[in-house]
Amino acid sequence: MFWKTSLVLLALSLATAGTGVDRKIGISIPLKPRAVLTKDDGTFDHERAAFETYRTEVKHRQNLINLERNVGRIAFSEGAQIKDFIPIPSFKLTKRQGVALTDQDDVEWTGPITIGSNAQKLTINFDTGSSDLWVPNAHDCYGCEGHNTYDSKTSKTSKSVNGTFTIFYGDGSTVSGPIFKDTVSIAGVKATNQTFSAVTELSQSFNGDPTDGILGLAYPSLSNLKASPYFQTAFAQKAIPKNVFAFKLATQGSELFLGGTNSKLFKGAIEQHPVKTGIGFWQIAKGSIHQGGKAVVSGFETIIDSGTTIMYGPPDQVKKFYDSVPGAELYDENNGFYSFPCKSIPKAGFSWGGKVWAVTPQNFNLGETTQGSGQCVGALSGTDLGLGNNVWLLGDSFMKNVYTVFSFANNTVGYAMLK
Ligand SMILES: *[C@@H]1O[C@H](CO)[C@@H](O)[C@H](O)[C@H]1NC(C)=O
Ligand SMILES: *[C@@H]1O[C@H](CO)[C@@H](O)[C@H](O)[C@H]1NC(C)=O
Ligand SMILES: *[C@@H]1O[C@H](CO)[C@@H](O)[C@H](O)[C@H]1NC(C)=O
Repeated sequence: MFWKTSLVLLALSLATAGTGVDRKIGISIPLKPRAVLTKDDGTFDHERAAFETYRTEVKHRQNLINLERNVGRIAFSEGAQIKDFIPIPSFKLTKRQGVALTDQDDVEWTGPITIGSNAQKLTINFDTGSSDLWVPNAHDCYGCEGHNTYDSKTSKTSKSVNGTFTIFYGDGSTVSGPIFKDTVSIAGVKATNQTFSAVTELSQSFNGDPTDGILGLAYPSLSNLKASPYFQTAFAQKAIPKNVFAFKLATQGSELFLGGTNSKLFKGAIEQHPVKTGIGFWQIAKGSIHQGGKAVVSGFETIIDSGTTIMYGPPDQVKKFYDSVPGAELYDENNGFYSFPCKSIPKAGFSWGGKVWAVTPQNFNLGETTQGSGQCVGALSGTDLGLGNNVWLLGDSFMKNVYTVFSFANNTVGYAMLK
């Protein structure tokens, strides 16, 4: 089934303080279904991919607005710019209401992230590419149908906060609403008085999205709410033993580990790279992309973003990559997608001066352009996201190949081999 096959389950674990051993609490929570850009018949889901790109652009445009306000343009990477307007894709996004969830899926969709004294359950997208928490509002929400919502009136620990949270979308719609403080709990890890928004407008680009809201795991300087993000609050309140979290993203057995790393999921050393601090993103320098064993573009920076499905690079640099792939050609100029012969999927990999971390052919290939065409679309798009003229954005298509460690303690991003 469409969603079921692409569902990423997120088992949330944490290391308990004081015991000296990592103890898995063993609560599984579902994350946004990923790799949904291939249809059941094996072809590329062009509409969905265009909307993913659109949402990625909107998210990072908002990040830059927040960063400019919180830190100033000094924090921008070279060439970064807040775009005036992001055109919505010309595709019509069809709702996927036809997809019936079985009982088993229902269980999986029940997320143990809870908010409030009465533990209201919501399903959350854990996003290393932003820093705020927002969920749909139970009252007067436009566009929240089909989502779990937060009801401030029934939680005894809910407090109103002055102001409004707003993310602008290119079609004039927003994700916006009032701000609250309440207890936010993930697998028993509580952040008390956590600031978040319960939005009363949900842009139509969230139609059919099985997650209710987003929980940002980047640095506070990207925060629209100017608030301590969930992880920072929970760490400051000593609910998390180490200022580190790690992800395994895969078709099965995916896990976010709060407070350290889960040695059961990776082997070998963790290769660590310093984050450029002060700019808010999990951004690391000295990146290069390899194709067929050779570096084809070098010296760029990369943002590691679990909330983005595919990978993006500046159009001229991504063109260089595909120029090295026999038979590759531009497929969709508007969204920067390229195609290549399905029988020779590029052997892509990224390096930051150490090992080359390969992107497997399954993770690189988004499917055939049309059935029988023999040309497949790559999970690397040449799109200017406004993040800088030498900045790449690596989402799930990259993260699925490695164990990724995010350390606020050392300000590093680390990679290890998956077991
Ligand atoms: C909230 O907003 C009101 C009206 O603008 C203002 O009077 C009040 O001081 C604000 N409260 C806080 C805590 O900022
Ligand atoms: C949360 O806020 C309430 C008052 O608004 C305060 O009494 C309580 O100490 C706060 N809790 C923490 C952990 O900061
Ligand atoms: C921080 O860096 C030190 C020295 O490289 C290392 O021993 C430690 O494991 C790192 N800690 C975290 C939490 O990443």
